[in-house]
Formats: sequence, structure tokens, C-alpha cells
Amino acid sequence: MKITLLVGTMTGTAQLVAQELELAWDDGETRVETLLMEKVDASVFSREGIFLVVTSTYGQGDVPDNAKPLYEELKAKRPDLSRVRYGLFGLGDRTYAETFNFGGKRFDEILQELGAQRIGERVQHDAASGVLPEESAVEWGEGWLALARESAALGARAGQSPERIRP
Ligand SMILES: Cc1cc2nc3c(=O)[nH]c(=O)nc-3n(C[C@H](O)[C@H](O)[C@H](O)COP(=O)(O)O)c2cc1C
Repeated sequence: MKITLLVGTMTGTAQLVAQELELAWDDGETRVETLLMEKVDASVFSREGIFLVVTSTYGQGDVPDNAKPLYEELKAKRPDLSRVRYGLFGLGDRTYAETFNFGGKRFDEILQELGAQRIGERVQHDAASGVLPEESAVEWGEGWLALARESAALGARAGQSPERIRP
């Protein structure tokens, strides 16, 4: 299974989360690639495999600067993402009560609008909780990886002809 981690970050915390997940998951059978969002455009979603968006929140509940071009492109071009399956790990701080984790929420909303299917619940890490995001991500990631594997297996079966699915 292939997993692409898409990272939206201002000061590198989300990137650290992605690095730890890559270390925990990439074992030859599961192949993980981490891409900073400023390095990609919306065509990234035509890649094979499953996506995990790891993004923080800045400004007035905005996506981080490096995520803005991708986010704006998705909103403007509205590609059909109905074949895309993704997870969402958001980073934020509850001190910003009105806009807590809005960066992740914004990505989640646009991906859903474009037809993509989320695997698992959207995570909202809280920097004020005292729990390190990379630690909570690795713990959460075990369950998410199992769901992602299930989803990948279902996707592979759905891609086969009916004859091949029959026992
Ligand atoms: C200037 C500034 C604005 C922020 N605005 C928000 C916000 O509106 N909502 C939120 O949940 N977190 C907000 N945060 C918290 C960050 O999203 C959080 O600290 C995150 O872990 C940073 O991750 P990063 O280093 O990957 O960018 C803000 C942080 C800063 C420094």
C-alpha cells in the first residue's frame, strides 16, 4: 500500500508529525512519501494509494502559507476527487477557540465537496493539551493504518472484474 502524506506547516510541527508517521509506517509493505504542500499542485491527487493531510492552522483560522496555493487551486478548479481516499490530522491550539483547527477543517470540507472519501475521523490535535502531536499521531496512526489497509483492500477488489471477485 502507498500512502502520501501532504504537509501544511508554518513552523515545522506538522512536518515532524509526518516524519514520525513515516518512520512508524514505512516498512516495505507500506510505502510512505511525505510531500510539503508548496511542492505539489492538485494533480497530486491522481497518484495511486491513500492520502493523509497533516496541516496546522494560522492567522484567522487559515491554512498555513505553504498550503494556500493547493487549497486555493482545489477551490477554484474543483477537480473530481471521487476516487480519492484520505485521512486528516489537524494541528491547532484551543487558545484560538473561535478557529480551533480550522486549517484541517477547511481541507476536510473542500476534499469532501470534491467527492473524496475520508477514512476515519478528522483529528484535531490541541497544542495547549501538553501532549506532543507526533506522539499522539503515532498512537492514533495504528488504528488509522488498519482502516486504510481495509479501505485499500476494498478498493482493489472493487477494481477487479466481477468474475475475479467470485470465489
Ligand atoms: C500566529 C499563530 C496563529 C495561530 N492560529 C491558530 C488558529 O486560528 N487556530 C488554531 O487551532 N491554532 C492556531 N495556531 C496554533 C498552531 O496551529 C499550532 O501551534 C500548530 O501546532 C503549529 O504547527 P506548525 O508548526 O506545523 O505550523 C496559531 C499559531 C500561531 C503562532
